[in-house]
Amino acid sequence: MTTIAVIGLGTMGLGIAQTYAAAGFAVLATDAVPEARETALGRLRAGLAPRVRAGKLAQADLDAILARITVVDGPKAMGATDLAIEAVVERMPVKQSLFAALEAVVAPDAVLASNTSSLSMAAMAEGLARPERLLGLHFFNPAPVMKLVELVAHPGTGAAALDRARRLTEAAGKTVIPCPDRPGFIVNRCARPFYGEALAMLEEGRSAAEIDAAMQAAGYPLGPFGLIDLVGADINLAATESLAAAMEGHPRYHVFDALRRQVASGDLGRKTGRGFLYPDEPGPAPKD
Ligand code: NAI
Repeated sequence: MTTIAVIGLGTMGLGIAQTYAAAGFAVLATDAVPEARETALGRLRAGLAPRVRAGKLAQADLDAILARITVVDGPKAMGATDLAIEAVVERMPVKQSLFAALEAVVAPDAVLASNTSSLSMAAMAEGLARPERLLGLHFFNPAPVMKLVELVAHPGTGAAALDRARRLTEAAGKTVIPCPDRPGFIVNRCARPFYGEALAMLEEGRSAAEIDAAMQAAGYPLGPFGLIDLVGADINLAATESLAAAMEGHPRYHVFDALRRQVASGDLGRKTGRGFLYPDEPGPAPKD
């Protein structure tokens, strides 16, 4: 049976684990924080319970999804994986040392993938014994709902790894789009001015609520601040800083103080219970 490993059971990792398990794959899951490991299956159950109550998911199917996920102590217990996807903090050294630990235990043809929003895959591959098996698989939030997965090759990524990652991810119902190994790939790069102009207006004195109300009335499913609350202000800041550095301070990628202050305040959005708008204006519930 094909086995997917997921490392990091926060906002994204939990959703990625659910996505592959729902498609019938065996999933090994872990997190560096014991509490995150202990609560992972309970959080997934709680997240899916409303769909069971609404008659959109059978209780037996929920149980089957959870039964396919095995929470393990750490990367050392993930040797049996065919595709390992990391969704840990957006910091290059953390991701690199995780891949070094995985390389020591997985089969030679196992694929290693990063869910990074903005880091260079070429830089991430440096130091790996087999850089040809590293690639980016960038899911969007919420991972079980959003169709798009950006597939990112660095110059040394091999065709076999790309083919396997694409096949397994399409089998999980996703639309896989190849992207250049450039800062922000496609979607996060296009999204920077969307956030940036909203943050500029906030600094000019407009409120987050009125900016989002205008954008939603214009047809966007979420306004820029609702989206930051969903993604996490810390993740948004990390992606913006990473793009600003890679683009050598080009004004299109300016890092606004309003975003830095939000992160410093600790009100990161849904994951901390408070954000620019959340919980006052939670935005639309995720679709099925
Ligand atoms: P998060 O902060 O919700 O979760 C990160 C998890 O990783 C935490 O549970 C943490 O304990 C764990 N962790 C940290 N270091 C670890 C290590 N060395 N080994 C194992 N577990 C470790 O973060 P989130 O939002 O899930 O983001 C994770 C990655 O996904 C980042 O690279 C981010 O840029 C990317 N991403 C985030 C999106 C979002 O909307 N939040 C969207 C797409 C990508």
